[in-house]
Amino acid sequence: MASSSFSHTPITVDKVETKYRKIITQIPVPESIPFIERLYKLESHSMHGQMPIVWDRAVGFQVYDKWGNKWIDFTSTIFVTNSGHGNPRIIHALENVLKKPLLHTYTYLSEERIEYLEYLIENTPIQFQKAFLLSAGTETTEVALKLMRLNGEKYSPNKKVVICFEGNWHGRTLGAQMMSGNPAQKSWMGYHDPNIIHLPFPYPWIMESEKEPRKFFRDSLNAVCAEKGIDPQKDVCGIMMETFQGWGAIFYPKEFVHEVETYTKEVNALLAFDEMQAGFGRTGKLFGYMNYEVEPDILCCGKGVSSSLPLSLVLGSAEIMDLPDIGSMSSTHSANPMVCAAGLANLKAILEDGLLENSRRFGLLFHVELNKLLNLFPDHIYLIQGKGLIAAMIFKSKAGEPLSKLCDKISELCLQRGLLVVHTGRDSIKLAPPLVITKDALLEGISVLKESIKDAIQVI
Ligand SMILES: Cc1ncc(COP(=O)(O)O)c(C=O)c1O
Repeated sequence: MASSSFSHTPITVDKVETKYRKIITQIPVPESIPFIERLYKLESHSMHGQMPIVWDRAVGFQVYDKWGNKWIDFTSTIFVTNSGHGNPRIIHALENVLKKPLLHTYTYLSEERIEYLEYLIENTPIQFQKAFLLSAGTETTEVALKLMRLNGEKYSPNKKVVICFEGNWHGRTLGAQMMSGNPAQKSWMGYHDPNIIHLPFPYPWIMESEKEPRKFFRDSLNAVCAEKGIDPQKDVCGIMMETFQGWGAIFYPKEFVHEVETYTKEVNALLAFDEMQAGFGRTGKLFGYMNYEVEPDILCCGKGVSSSLPLSLVLGSAEIMDLPDIGSMSSTHSANPMVCAAGLANLKAILEDGLLENSRRFGLLFHVELNKLLNLFPDHIYLIQGKGLIAAMIFKSKAGEPLSKLCDKISELCLQRGLLVVHTGRDSIKLAPPLVITKDALLEGISVLKESIKDAIQVI
C-alpha cells in the first residue's frame, strides 16, 4: 500500500469521454472530500493515503463514482477481482445464498462448503488433495508455517528452520511478518524467531553478474547456514516463496526455483508458495508457480480466490493437511457459505469462461505494449517485469536512483484521466486489469499510461 498521500484539493482537469472512460468533474470530486474527511476522523491512520476516489459501483473492468466519472481499472482492487468486478456468476451465486438465507455456519456443515471443496480439489493439480479455508491471506501463510513445522517434527523435534527470501512479503500477522523480508516493517516486534532465516532474492540486476542461479542459491544458503550454525538435514523443515516478489512482480530464474525444489527433497523439507497475488489466473496459468514447472507441497491463496468476499485457502496433500489435530486449526469466518458460493462461482468463471486464455493471450500483448514504453522512456523506466495480466514498471534514473515521486505523479495523472493503476508508494507502478478486460480497453489504458508518464516527466 502507498506510503505517500494524494492531494485532496480538487483541480480542474481536461474532460474525458470515451467508450471506457469518463471524467466530467474536478478530481478529486469536490463532493467526495467530505466523505474522505469523515473517514479520516474515524479510521486508523494506516488506512489513509489511498487514492481520493469514492467507488460507487464496479462492473467488469470499470469503476464508477456517484458523480458521473468512470475509470478503466488496472488494479483489480489490488489483485482481487480476477474474474471481473461484480462477475454475474458470483452475483447469482450470492443471491441464491441470500435468498435462503444462510449467512453463517462456522462449525456446522453446509452444502455450499462441500460443493466448493469438491470443485476446487477436482480442478487443481493432483498433489492437492485437501484444503483449509480461511478469510485473510496472512492466515494462510501462518498456517503454512505451522504445517511445515509440524511436518518437520515427524523427523526431529528441532527440525524447525523455515527459509524465506529477502524482499518477499507474506502478510501482517506476526509469523507472516517474520517470514517477510522487509526489516523496516519488523522493528516494532522486538523479537525475531531465530528459526526463520532469509536468503538473498535473485533480482535480475544481481543475476546479471551472478549468471548461475543454481549456484547463487546454494552459495547463499551455505553461507547463511554456516553463519547461523544450521544443519540443513537436521534443522530445515520448509521453504516459503512468494511466487513473484510483489512490489516489482519480479519472478525468480526458473533454474533457481528448480534448485530450491531439489534442495527441499534432499533435506525432507516442504516447499510452500505464497500465491496471493499470483494465483487464480493472474499470470496466464491457474497458479503462478506453474510458470516454473515445479510441484509445491503447500499453496497459500487469497485475493483472486473469490474475486470478491473474504476467502483465502491453503492447499496440500492429505498427509500434510491432516497433520494438525481436530480443532487445532480454525477461524470463525472460515468456510462461510457466502464466501464458498463466491469461491465456487469465481473458479468456474476462471476455468469455464476462457479467463485463463484471456490472461495468457492479452498478457502477451500487454507486455509487448509495455515494453514499447521502456523504449520510449529509457531514462526513467528501468525494468518491466511480470507475466500474463500482471506487470510492474520500475522507475529509476540513469544514476540508479529510485523515482518514487515520479510514480506518485504518474498514478495521480492516470486517475485524473480515467485509469486506475496500483500505486505502490515506492519506485514501481503495478498494473493488473481484471482478466475480463477487452483488447481495446487494454490498449486504451496503456495509451493513457503513456501520456501520463510523458507529462509526469515534464513536471517532476
Ligand atoms: C504476497 C502476499 N502475501 C500475503 C498477503 C496478505 O494477504 P491479506 O492482506 O489478505 O492478509 C498479501 C497481501 O497483499 C500478499 O500480496
